[in-house]
Amino acid sequence: IDYHQARFVHSAPTLAHCLPDEGHEVAFAGRSNAGKSSAINALTGQKALARTSKTPGRTQLINFFELDDGTRHLVDLPGYGYAKVPEKVKLEWQRHLSAYLQKRRSLKGLVLMMDVRHPLTEFDQMMLAWADDADMPVHILLTKSDKLKRGAAAASLQKVRSALAEWDDLVSVQLFSSLKRQGLDTLAQTLNRWLAP
Ligand code: GTP
Ligand code: MG
Repeated sequence: IDYHQARFVHSAPTLAHCLPDEGHEVAFAGRSNAGKSSAINALTGQKALARTSKTPGRTQLINFFELDDGTRHLVDLPGYGYAKVPEKVKLEWQRHLSAYLQKRRSLKGLVLMMDVRHPLTEFDQMMLAWADDADMPVHILLTKSDKLKRGAAAASLQKVRSALAEWDDLVSVQLFSSLKRQGLDTLAQTLNRWLAP
């Protein structure tokens, strides 16, 4: 798949306003500021396809990007755990996310992004549990790996892999840096597999 051909097609305020449940899609989820939008830009080789920001909570809509033939999509989800969002809205969003994982037939896999320095937060674990319930494959990107020395990044990878060893049929993990363009090939291979017709 040529990810450079990706183009923005749709923004949805809630999952009820998503594109029709057809074709194949892969969603990018994770805490606010984990680097989801940056990863989509790195993958597609487009600097500003998805909006990024130093301030957490930049992505507040569900954004759909169409790939080549229009039947496959990348979905940029709003980050979770954004402090300024009221508790009630957070709970509502969590309910939606779990329903999306359970019911969305076109969803073939979840890219779950975690800052390599703070992986497996409580909410990350909740996402993993929901994905497991839904039998949804998860590929974890330990993002901003450029922020750690090589040894420390490798140690974080090892720690996450062993914590998730019991789920290794559904979950894979890699180091990733949008800034250094590290790990793009491995990510693309995983997406190609999930999005294969
Ligand atoms: P929300 O939309 O708020 O949920 O955030 P997001 O997960 O989409 O994060 P975004 O891509 O906007 O990146 C957040 C911040 O992290 C920005 O300042 C990025 O420049 C920075 N960032 C993202 N990826 C990397 C990376 O690989 N390395 C470094 N050093 N910084 C990064
Ligand atoms: Mg974003």
